[in-house]
Amino acid sequence: MTTPTVTPEVDGAQFAYPTCWADMDRWHTEVAEIRRTNPILRVDLAGFEPFWVLTRYADVFNVSRENDRWTNTSRSVLAPEEEWRRMLDAGVPVPRTLVHLDGQEHRDHRLVTNGWFKPAAVKHRQPRIEALADLFVQKMRDLGGECDFARDIAQPFTLRVIMDIYGVPESDEPLMMELTQGLFGAADPEFMGDAVDAEARLIESVMKFIGYFNAITEDRQKCPTEDLASVIANGQPGGCPMGDAERLWYYIIVATAGHDTTSYALSGGMEAMLRDPSQLRALRDDPELAGNAAEECIRWASPVRHFLRYATEDTMVGDVDIPEGGRVLLSYPSANRDEEIFRDSMHFDVRRPNADKLLSFGAGTHFCLGSQFARREVRTMLAKLGQQLAHIEPTGPAQWSESSFVSGVKHLPVGYSFR
Ligand code: HEM
Repeated sequence: MTTPTVTPEVDGAQFAYPTCWADMDRWHTEVAEIRRTNPILRVDLAGFEPFWVLTRYADVFNVSRENDRWTNTSRSVLAPEEEWRRMLDAGVPVPRTLVHLDGQEHRDHRLVTNGWFKPAAVKHRQPRIEALADLFVQKMRDLGGECDFARDIAQPFTLRVIMDIYGVPESDEPLMMELTQGLFGAADPEFMGDAVDAEARLIESVMKFIGYFNAITEDRQKCPTEDLASVIANGQPGGCPMGDAERLWYYIIVATAGHDTTSYALSGGMEAMLRDPSQLRALRDDPELAGNAAEECIRWASPVRHFLRYATEDTMVGDVDIPEGGRVLLSYPSANRDEEIFRDSMHFDVRRPNADKLLSFGAGTHFCLGSQFARREVRTMLAKLGQQLAHIEPTGPAQWSESSFVSGVKHLPVGYSFR
């Protein structure tokens, strides 16, 4: 379905129409007003099943943690009904990633890779994350004082970290990037490739992923290695071999969830620091700030724009009745700007005392599996840039990608020098 090209006057369209995500200052101003006046907003948009948007921190947090009363189902990402129908008609398997599973099935599947994402396991990979960050700081030096920080540094760095644990060769990274953008940013005209429309692009991406990962499964089942792809290929949730659809979607979520998100956190944070250079100076003067600055970047950018939850019984959120089967949209970017929790929330502050209360990674049983990786990647890169950059400034306007699911700063032209 084609969505309007300008922000419409209907409250709630901000959460659904991809084009609304291209101007984040405007988005946050409009949504702050919704949060103030109608924080649990019912949205009826042509082409979409109705939903309620939760804009306050407390509501997003509480619903996320009540995993029995609220389930995810196979439709945990907002899409026009027509897009969903076309996907099924085209033979795309119904989504069965970790995000789409509930209850015991979800717990069993999560356990398959959980060990890889525990703090101690991720800490063990810190030297590798450092080495990759060094490689990309060097790339920035080699680019000679001008680059697109989002496209040239943030994206390839975060992609390399994930592909490295996956065991996917560097030569396949362009394909992974193309497919991820097809899946998450299908509506952005820049990421549409040769496809005629966003749905076609999405379908094409899933189909290519199927071919790619089927080959990996065959390989890792025959010759398992030490990589994460081997763990998924041979995973036994609840003691039984994983279903083909679940395995495919497992690969897809780990391959895709890990890099566009982290990359947008880095590029979004850098964009904020370019607007307020005192933030970068603070990082330079106190390298210990890198950890807190990473939290603030992830709060600020909030790259996952939403997930949906479905009521398993008649229930209430605040003073609003939600019937059984009704769905709510958890707006992480809005929750992360809630003044009740974050003082002066529209201000980016690497010293924010409670930046680590961010809701960008969700909460409850679906809490982001890769949060430890994301935090380390952002923190490591910020620490290196803080220590090594002499100056950095914008050389053109930043651009945000157009997607209501995962989006952020996709172009950030900068000029800089190193010390
Ligand atoms: C700044 C970067 C990231 C952000 C903002 C982010 C955000 C999220 C959010 C909001 C969820 C859903 C939480 C919920 O429903 O309560 C999620 C789930 C998930 N994320 Fe992340 N993520 C990031 C990085 C990563 C990385 C690096 C990986 C993998 C290496 C990853 C893998 C996953 C997986 C597998 C899930 C599904 C977990 C489940 O349903 O049990 N994410 N993430």
